[in-house]
Amino acid sequence: MAANNLKGLILSGGRGTRLRPLTHTAAKQLVPVANRPILFHVLDNLQKAAVNDVGIVISPETGQAIRDAVGDGSAWGMKVSFIEQAEPLGLAHAVKVARPYLGADSFVMYLGDNLIGSGIEAFRDEFEKSGAVSSILLKEVDNPSSFGIAEVDDQQRVLSLVEKPKEPKSNLALVGIYFFTEKIHGAIDSIKPSWRGELEITDAIQLLLSQGCKVLSHRIDAWWLDTGKKDDLLTANTVVLDEWVQRKIDGEIDGASQVTGRVQLGKGSRVIGSTIRGPVVIGDDVLVENSFVGPFTSIGNGCRIISSVLEHCLLLEGARVENVDRLEDSLLGKNSAVVREQKSRQGYRLMIGDDSEVLL
Ligand code: G1P
Repeated sequence: MAANNLKGLILSGGRGTRLRPLTHTAAKQLVPVANRPILFHVLDNLQKAAVNDVGIVISPETGQAIRDAVGDGSAWGMKVSFIEQAEPLGLAHAVKVARPYLGADSFVMYLGDNLIGSGIEAFRDEFEKSGAVSSILLKEVDNPSSFGIAEVDDQQRVLSLVEKPKEPKSNLALVGIYFFTEKIHGAIDSIKPSWRGELEITDAIQLLLSQGCKVLSHRIDAWWLDTGKKDDLLTANTVVLDEWVQRKIDGEIDGASQVTGRVQLGKGSRVIGSTIRGPVVIGDDVLVENSFVGPFTSIGNGCRIISSVLEHCLLLEGARVENVDRLEDSLLGKNSAVVREQKSRQGYRLMIGDDSEVLL
């Protein structure tokens, strides 16, 4: 059994520049995947690992939205504290800001836009038993220059860590979930900002390594997605729908419609003369009329889909799609509309932000 003093530290600040325009008006961690904010999936995973004292680092811009969404944490049976980071000066800087909250406790740091397809209980147990000062998770990636990269020997021992290397020594990226003892604080005090002006947690762990401290590493087999980019967000939506969605119909389906497979249809939603093929999640008060909704689509509350074909799409609250022959691999922000006015027969690929409107 894991001891219960391991705290959680979720980093939920930052400006989300890589998900603009979606994140001009919202925190990237609150963008929903399968109609549930990414941050809630993170909290679910910490809850499963019996982490019940959690600090959430927030930014001045989106902090209030995160406070409103998470509340006091009682929905997860947790005590949640919010910690404001005035400027996004790096992951290690966030740990520094959180030091009064963390005290001398060990903690698991979890980036609020990272999703993994497994629990973290086993990593927690092993870390607590090991006497290591840190434990990191690694996963192969195709674009190692975009991540922190580890060089490991054939025994899986970490030899070196480099943040966004120009000439990567491996394709093993640091996943955004890290375990630390209080030793990390001294290392953070000794590092300097990187070329991008941030205090890098990667550099702090590298310093621990060069001081001869024990750092565990695990290559994870499960999927891992850093949802900070549009394509990863659509992939996350696909993976989460595929793995976690069960059929649940609360709304109404008329006799002329066919709804097959793992489909969730929320309260007050209506399906009229349409076909829906799961896995699909549809929120509350949605109207789907004379349309086809294909697999791997998430439709937020209050959306309207009229005389259209959708597949592999993520629609946020209040989005509207009308008379569109085929919309695929698309991400629509809150209250946005895609409406075809004239005859046109192509497929479209779109990323449109909140409150925008596209007339095709
Ligand atoms: C950060 C870390 C990087 C890690 C990545 C995981 O990158 O600096 O080492 O691999 O998260 O998501 P950033 O998102 O700040 O570019």
